[in-house]
Amino acid sequence: MSACLLSTPLTFKLIISMKITDVYQREDAAQYLYQLLEERAPHVSISHKQMPTFAEHCEFMHGAPYVCWLLILTDVGDVAGAIYLSKRDEIGVALFKSYQGRGIGESAVKELIRLHPRRRFLANVNPANEASAGFFRKLGFKEIQRTYENAADQSQ
Ligand SMILES: CC(C)(COP(=O)(O)OP(=O)(O)OC[C@H]1O[C@@H](n2cnc3c(N)ncnc32)[C@H](O)[C@@H]1OP(=O)(O)O)[C@@H](O)C(=O)NCCC(=O)NCCS
Repeated sequence: MSACLLSTPLTFKLIISMKITDVYQREDAAQYLYQLLEERAPHVSISHKQMPTFAEHCEFMHGAPYVCWLLILTDVGDVAGAIYLSKRDEIGVALFKSYQGRGIGESAVKELIRLHPRRRFLANVNPANEASAGFFRKLGFKEIQRTYENAADQSQ
């Protein structure tokens, strides 16, 4: 009898299904969105160089800055992350670490695109965020520009 060994390990991606709800329909949405900001590594974000206070964050939310802003929920209703579509057709998506890599981000972007069809969509990706670049490439996005910045150091 001979034993057979697999030289490459089989890896399975555990897919979790998701649903979405408008952030303005949930009283606790501001807290979840703020936690997502807190969890974000600095290299992940282009828009937030400094963490806003919770009051600043709430003021931003109440200004209804996006065409749509949705909480992403798991099938059992846990908040996994959030996604928005800006007035310039930019998609922004972020998941809590514990929900990343399970297909939720991909499903959420596809659902947003289905609900809000546009001629084209954009995604602004920090060049240091390879995971996000790979994510958007998988969804059919192509790199169209690199933007350089020369900004005063606001930490002084
Ligand atoms: C980027 C992010 C939204 C992706 O969502 P996700 O649910 O983790 O990703 P999915 O499981 O749906 O993966 C879909 C595809 O994206 C690509 N991808 C996902 N994570 C990746 C990683 N870390 N590196 C490279 N590619 C990655 C893969 O091609 C993957 O498909 P595959 O597993 O079949 O190969 C999520 O990881 C996240 O919130 N990261 C932190 C915040 C952030 O970077 N947001 C983007 C700024 S706009």
